[in-house]
Amino acid sequence: MKKLHRAALVSSTLATCFVASAQAGPMVWASMGEDSYRLLRRAGAEVEQVEPFSVAIRAPQADGRVGTRNETVYLMQVDEDALPQLSRDVHEQLKNCAGFMVHTSRADGRKAVAGFRDAAQRGVAPLINYVIDNDAEVTPLLAQVQESNIRSTIVHLSTDYKNRYYTTSGGTSASDQLAASWKALAGSRTDVTVKQFTHPSWPQKSVILEIKGTTNPGKIVVVGGHLDSILLSGTNENSIAPGADDDASGVASLQEAMRVLLSSGYKPKRTLQFMAYAAEEVGLRGSQGIATDYKNKSKKVVGVLQLDMTNYQGASSDITMITDYTNAAQNKFVKDLAAHYLPTLNVNEDRCGYACSDHASWTNKGYVASFPFEAPLANDNKNIHTSNDTIAKSGNNANHALKFAKLALAYLVELGSDGK
Ligand code: BES
Ligand code: ZN
Repeated sequence: MKKLHRAALVSSTLATCFVASAQAGPMVWASMGEDSYRLLRRAGAEVEQVEPFSVAIRAPQADGRVGTRNETVYLMQVDEDALPQLSRDVHEQLKNCAGFMVHTSRADGRKAVAGFRDAAQRGVAPLINYVIDNDAEVTPLLAQVQESNIRSTIVHLSTDYKNRYYTTSGGTSASDQLAASWKALAGSRTDVTVKQFTHPSWPQKSVILEIKGTTNPGKIVVVGGHLDSILLSGTNENSIAPGADDDASGVASLQEAMRVLLSSGYKPKRTLQFMAYAAEEVGLRGSQGIATDYKNKSKKVVGVLQLDMTNYQGASSDITMITDYTNAAQNKFVKDLAAHYLPTLNVNEDRCGYACSDHASWTNKGYVASFPFEAPLANDNKNIHTSNDTIAKSGNNANHALKFAKLALAYLVELGSDGK
């Protein structure tokens, strides 16, 4: 927590207290970082059976060298209705993310926390060679990525549904229609499949488009973003939660990379998968479901790129690499990709905290994940999780998201073109 905010925190929690204690939803198992936990307690939320864990996080330090830092993570049962409120309080008061993971049981929560500990112990040894050697394929494809397509996808997702919450009709039809339009993009190719991944506990499905690898189909490269949106004051059927930046922008960026690859007839050696996750905003539930399923089936995912918020340029920098709960070796590769293919872009680094987006679900299962973000966290989009998260706040264009679509395309082709 930044020291500066401590005083503000204490004075503003009295008001929060009333709201939180008036709520009484079901109790769910959740894990979160220390700052979020303190805020939750101060807000008077109902919390039971708290267990603290010390988790070693490997991330670059101020001097740029990778080091280990201990972070306390709390596992508990908490009133589910206090979680959106918590997220708002943390964003407003701490100016950082309020990541949390919701778990199906105490045992599941303990396993998740242990997963981070294991991931940290495994360190940052690269599983694959990060060589940039596909200019001849990547460069002409980059020229085909179009801002207008990204823009129209963002407009569609953020205006054709009132919201895309994981339990509403908007949330389920957004998934169904996304699957239909991805099927249309796939056309008649027999090496391309589109599936909706069904989650047993809620109606919204995740959507996955796969381009099967020609020579090495057992190795999978994933680019994902979350399809759901949320209104922090409480989301129901009629809530207006456009989620244009969070995260229609990420889904639109990856869909444009997908469109270019499919329309060009590109055939990867490794298998490429594009994912639109359900239920991120309620504790990374969709991506946890998928990462757990893949781990249980021993699927070999060689790299994951998360696109969550790509269209709000809050500072002069273009891409902010999130360094915590991500893989340092792959992060360096992503930075090298930007320097090589998008040399005019300004890339910097920041941290996002415990479980701020779906990359954490993959990291948790021991996979290699990176998260290039739209801005330093202090300069990010303040309209997320409100009815004002519209494309108007990004100047009614997708110029910023375009950079992330290109980065994703370079990532997919460079990793997809390898035979092992
Ligand atoms: N897109 C945000 C994460 C984010 C917000 C990253 C601002 C960086 C800056 C994500 O959808 C989100 O809202 N995450 C929640 C936690 C999640 C587990 C519900 C958050 O950070 O509050
Ligand atoms: Zn998001």
